[in-house]
Amino acid sequence: QELQLSLDQIEKAGYDHFMLKEIYEQPEAIKDTYRGRMLPEKGLIRMSGVDDNIEKFLNAKRIIVIACGTSWHAGLVSEYLFEDFARIPVEVEYASEFRYRNPIINEDDVVIAISQSGETADTMAAIKIAKEKGAFVFGVCNVVGSSISRETHAGAYTHAGPEIGVASTKAFTTQITILTLIALKLGKQKGEISNSQFHAYLNELNTIPEKIERTLETNEEVIKVAEAYKNAKNCLYLGRGHNFPVALEGALKLKEISYIHAEGYPAAEMKHGPIALIDEMMPVVVIATKKGHYEKVVSNIQEIKSRKGKIIAVVTEGDTSVKQMADHILEVPDTIEEFTPLLTTIPLQLLSYHIAVMLDKNVDQPRNLAKSVTVE
Ligand code: G6P
Repeated sequence: QELQLSLDQIEKAGYDHFMLKEIYEQPEAIKDTYRGRMLPEKGLIRMSGVDDNIEKFLNAKRIIVIACGTSWHAGLVSEYLFEDFARIPVEVEYASEFRYRNPIINEDDVVIAISQSGETADTMAAIKIAKEKGAFVFGVCNVVGSSISRETHAGAYTHAGPEIGVASTKAFTTQITILTLIALKLGKQKGEISNSQFHAYLNELNTIPEKIERTLETNEEVIKVAEAYKNAKNCLYLGRGHNFPVALEGALKLKEISYIHAEGYPAAEMKHGPIALIDEMMPVVVIATKKGHYEKVVSNIQEIKSRKGKIIAVVTEGDTSVKQMADHILEVPDTIEEFTPLLTTIPLQLLSYHIAVMLDKNVDQPRNLAKSVTVE
């Protein structure tokens, strides 16, 4: 019997879709991002684009992050990282809004532009404006030699490898990895992080790929959740602190590929609106890891429960309190709060993937969306 494999099948390496392949590539992709840059044994983070411009970073009064879509969500995650680790104020802007305002940019601002493709028109236009106003612009791109990587003053590639699925997955987690490295490096050099803390952070970051592997092993659980909620009309995603942007990203993934209406919200804002939507038909995905604001999120879960909402909780392995209240739990290994987004985002990617497959949608090329948006 003749064995015929199409190029497409070979490229998918045995996975049904590029998106699934790219989700499973994340442990390796993250290692590729920090390989040669993070040197835990030497207690060092080496990044030439940052090292060559270290004064600009250390003297920055403010970091302005510009991006679109999923890259914008990575920017939101970085706001917490830069503020926590390096104590630098951060503003995160949609490139499309930034470019049409009259943005106030000073010469001691560092602008970080994040773009997987390096071709997004709005991000490119925003970079040009920032440069005209005298800012130093640093790019975080995946595609080597892309327009944005050439237009920026300096930068760091994510080295995630080609991302084919329109819904971004490994680009997101590798962008967060790069931004974590920069924030840790600046924190150390500014004296905000002690040597011993720095060592501990590097060692912990080094465990993240293996912890993502473990998270991927919950795939069967995620499939059960997908089966239970695939016919939902709406879905709410809640998270706080470092995991608030993860809630936004989880909702975006579901919208993009399954066409189910989904909203991401900071958990405490629920009472200012979305709570009105909660009834027995409404699945609510809550990120409730043991770190940061745990008790507060637990009380948000109780509020949802008392309104008969269905709770899918992303929890730390071994959690018992949330387990009693939630309809489903998806576990992630324990890590420090700052690194939780790299883990909590994984089950949400898988959930949107499985729902879209079950609904027979075109996962890798969802309707109306493009991988890179080179027009306004
Ligand atoms: C498009 C893609 C998204 C992506 C966004 C920004 O909308 O479908 O997945 O997040 O563009 O793209 P960029 O290449 O700039 O990260």
